[in-house]
Amino acid sequence: MRCLVALALVLVACGKSDPPAAASGSGEAGNAAKADGAEVATDDQSRFDQERQPEILMRALGLKPGMTVADVGAGTGLLTVHIARAVFPGGHVVATDINPSVLEYLGARMEAAGFDTVVEPRVVQPAEPGLEADHYDLILLSQVDHYFDDRVAWLTKAAPALKATGRLAINNRMQHRAAAMAAATSVGFQLVTEVNDLPGQFVAIFQRGPAPGHAPTPKGTP
Ligand SMILES: C[S@@+](CC[C@H](N)C(=O)[O-])C[C@H]1O[C@@H](n2cnc3c(N)ncnc32)[C@H](O)[C@@H]1O
Repeated sequence: MRCLVALALVLVACGKSDPPAAASGSGEAGNAAKADGAEVATDDQSRFDQERQPEILMRALGLKPGMTVADVGAGTGLLTVHIARAVFPGGHVVATDINPSVLEYLGARMEAAGFDTVVEPRVVQPAEPGLEADHYDLILLSQVDHYFDDRVAWLTKAAPALKATGRLAINNRMQHRAAAMAAATSVGFQLVTEVNDLPGQFVAIFQRGPAPGHAPTPKGTP
């Protein structure tokens, strides 16, 4: 039942264009029963993997074991499990969402996959990234930035959470590309690479530009 409620909530949260997860009944083949009564559907993971082709996104992100990643708007964790696998061992994933119910489901999914010590679910407020300063190798916004009331304000708050070498990745449907690009560059992010191998989607990877008001010092200047 908890599974059904969580899935109904994520359908509302994610909107029609995000493929719905299957609502799986108790004991249905392909579902892992949890000790606390929650269930983690594995058929919704298969459907997600088929439709979203996360291996293309993961390749573009270039994650390595030991990295620290913020998966913003992680939902029920269908993508998070791939991130956790990529940074394991030694890595850490903070999976944020404004909806506590989907994070409860994400927690059960991570436990079933053996990644509960790798992934930390974190409830956040809509306008607050809720991320520690100077901590992340990557902040990933996958199909979430269009929910922000003010992309520029959100990215301005999130930027300090990246390490000096950290990157920002935005993956979304093409219709959101222009707004995402404009917001990221206006905050001072510089586009490093863009991958458009996913049908109808873009993946843009940015690095932090110089802090506002700090012009780069010319070489040879004492
Ligand atoms: C379309 S789902 C994307 C789930 C996952 N990232 C993916 O790519 O499949 C969007 C998720 O973002 C969450 N969300 C919406 N606004 C948010 C915000 N301001 N901060 C964090 N999460 C947010 C929603 O609750 C929902 O779970």
